[in-house]
Formats: sequence, C-alpha cells, structure tokens
Amino acid sequence: MGPSGSGKSVLLRHIIGLEQPDEGEIRLNGQSVQGSDVLDRYRLAMVFQSAALLNSLTVAENVGLYLAEHRLRPPEEIRRIVSEKLALVGLEGTEDKLPGQLSGGMRKRVAIARALVMEPQLILYDEPTSELDPLSAQVIAEEILSLRDRIGVTSIVVTHDSALAFQVADRIGFLHDGRLVALEKPDQLRAHPDPLLQRFLQARAHRQPQEVAP
Ligand SMILES: Nc1ncnc2c1ncn2[C@@H]1O[C@H](COP(=O)(O)OP(=O)(O)O)[C@@H](O)[C@H]1O
Ligand SMILES: [Mg+2]
Repeated sequence: MGPSGSGKSVLLRHIIGLEQPDEGEIRLNGQSVQGSDVLDRYRLAMVFQSAALLNSLTVAENVGLYLAEHRLRPPEEIRRIVSEKLALVGLEGTEDKLPGQLSGGMRKRVAIARALVMEPQLILYDEPTSELDPLSAQVIAEEILSLRDRIGVTSIVVTHDSALAFQVADRIGFLHDGRLVALEKPDQLRAHPDPLLQRFLQARAHRQPQEVAP
C-alpha cells in the first residue's frame, strides 16, 4: 500500500525480474532471485493494472495464450484448462467474447484467469481495483481471498486503496518514496506512528462518507 509514485509497481517489476535492482537484492524464501533459477521454480504470475488483454483475441485465446504460444499443451487440453480457469473466476461461458464486450471488472477477472493458467504459487496484483466501481472492486477483493482459500496461492496485492488492503491482507507494507516505512499486521498498522501513513489512512476515512452519499 502507498500513495501514487511511491514505488509499488517498481517493486512488483523487480520481484518478477522485469527490472534489476541497482542496489540490494530480491529474495524469495531466503534465496536471491538474481542469476538463479528461483524465478523458474517459483511460478509467478502478474495481474497487470490495465488487465493487458489483447483486444483482437477472444477471452479464451487471451487466457490460453501462454500455453498456445509455447505449445505446452494440445489445443483441446488448452480449451479445457481455459474453461476451468474461467470458471474459477466466475466467468464460465465467456470463452468466445472479445475483451471489448466485457465490463472492466470482468476484464480484470479474465486477467486473473490468465494468471491462473501458469498454476502459480505466487500471484502479484498491481492495483486490481483501480478504475473499477465500488461493487466490481468488491467482487475482485472477494475473488483474491477466494483464490487464496481454494487453490492455496500466495498473493501480493499492490494498491493505493487502503480499504482493499485491510480487506485482503494478512500483512500490510506501507511504501513511501521507494522505502518500506512499515510492514505490519493490519491492526498494528493502524496504530503505527509514521505520520504520513496516518495521514494516508485518515484521508481515506474522511472520504468514505462522501462516497456512499447519493
Ligand atoms: N523504469 C523506471 N526508471 C526510472 N524511474 C522509474 C521507472 N519506473 C518508475 N519510475 C519512477 O519510480 C517512482 C515509483 O513509480 P511506481 O512504482 O510506478 O509508483 P506506484 O507506487 O504509483 O506504482 C516514480 O517516481 C516513477 O516515476
Ligand atoms: Mg503503480
């Protein structure tokens, strides 16, 4: 969690190896990911902020793209896997639709289904509820928790939405200017003394009444 520009996306890009740190190192379960096969062994999947679907491909083609491109499975098995992952995010029957025919929340769920095709042990979500209306955001939050419980996947969720953070997180880190100011269980984070963190949490609290007003 952290304000815009605090380094949340940059952190995720480092974890999945899209960028290399100038200093320090990224470790997964104590093992440095640099110059090793850790990243291959830990199947990581990222759900990008924009959903990043290819608009000219159907939902099924988007979700199965990785398997098809790398010829990892025969076509009929890819269809079965795709349908299974779409069902996991509540989108059964949307295989032949185009991304443009779906709502923002549904597109986000397609992006999650595409991540699930990797059979990931770790899913990273970048701002999964931004650009969504409050109800669709709620569905995504429930989806993140449900996948954790049903398939046992660890999730790192990056967000500037503190309500989402408190809803889904076992532990919350607060980033500011590229630094991890706090990393706490949610209850302890509320009591954390960092002044910017407190302002961040209160700004949200003050906005909420306006959001529910008609
Ligand atoms: N590839 C890059 N090279 C240099 N600076 C970058 C790069 N990507 C992001 N930044 C800068 O790093 C800071 C953190 O960016 P980012 O992680 O995207 O923030 P956010 O917390 O909103 O996701 C910003 O000031 C951004 O302009
Ligand atoms: Mg970002």
